[in-house]
Amino acid sequence: MTGTATPTIDVHLTADDLRAALENDVRVGLTAEAKWLPPVWFYDDRGSALFDEITRLEEYYPTRAERGLLEAHAAEIAARSGADTLVELGSGTSDKSRVLLDAFLAAGSLRRYVPLDVSDGTLWTAANELVREYPGLEVHAVVGDFDRHIGLIPSEGRRMVAFLGSTIGNFYPEHRRRFLFDLDCTMAHGDSFLLGTDLIKDEKKLIAAYDDVAGATAEFNRNVLHVLNRELHADFRPERFQHVALWNEEEHRIEMRLRSLEDQRVPIADLDLEVSFPVGEDLLTEISTKFTREGVEAELFEAGFIVDAMWEAPEGEFLLTLATPYC
Ligand code: SAH
Ligand code: TRP
Repeated sequence: MTGTATPTIDVHLTADDLRAALENDVRVGLTAEAKWLPPVWFYDDRGSALFDEITRLEEYYPTRAERGLLEAHAAEIAARSGADTLVELGSGTSDKSRVLLDAFLAAGSLRRYVPLDVSDGTLWTAANELVREYPGLEVHAVVGDFDRHIGLIPSEGRRMVAFLGSTIGNFYPEHRRRFLFDLDCTMAHGDSFLLGTDLIKDEKKLIAAYDDVAGATAEFNRNVLHVLNRELHADFRPERFQHVALWNEEEHRIEMRLRSLEDQRVPIADLDLEVSFPVGEDLLTEISTKFTREGVEAELFEAGFIVDAMWEAPEGEFLLTLATPYC
């Protein structure tokens, strides 16, 4: 019945949960010796829209490269996985996911799509568009945190879990290890895991992808300050922070920072806290780790996965890996 279909939406994150987590993260991160914030707070509605803009920038090659890989190999991925349920973690607008959905539907096995994201507005919009675009497909959206709610995702059927966009690169190594291990524990025999990872490459090209000429990434980075102003009645002046993207050679990751342009003290009313930023001090807002094929395979193996296939974009731009749990 086209036109009347609606998605199912499970909400595992209440406003109270989010509020408590935000308060805790900000208190811990901004009182630390080296200030930092976890990236999840970038993605309010404005942040999601800015990220969407980033994915279309000339300099931001990962989205294009990953889409190219999906277009070239989605049919094979569908055939190998044989899944009737496609789960996607951090699905955002589900833009690239449509390439997978088309291929899985063409293969005839797919019945259900389960997108999970913290950004409820973006997820809700995507889920409603998808039920209209794909009559007959069951869309079961989950508003949740992929660090805490993987175990609550519908578990029936033969599943493929997709984690695209190199979002795994935004985790620190210990976090990655725990995430992969937890994921492996929720997977059954016959399930599969599709992982998108960015690859180590020329430093100039990497930095440009996180410091575009038009300034969209800078705006995205500063968005986290707007979120703190609105949610916690903080008084950040975003224009007093410079967007900085550095390549950390040793840890093979891009580090996104907000550098204080002057000596400043920032009140955060709801936390009854005042944070000082001496001129030149950095707030670390996001890392984006870059990988090698061997590194991805080794980390997956350590967490209980065997690599089934890997596809690399031209010029080593990006890597897609299909893996299965080995027990
Ligand atoms: N998969 C999309 C979007 C990547 S951006 C792509 O490849 O283009 C990262 C996405 O993860 C955003 O939609 C953001 O809202 C979501 N996200 C970030 N932290 C999250 C968390 N802890 N739990 C669930 N989703 C999260
Ligand atoms: N997962 C994306 C990446 O690491 C997220 C991202 C892209 C991002 N551009 C950003 C995060 C700028 C923060 C700032 O490429």
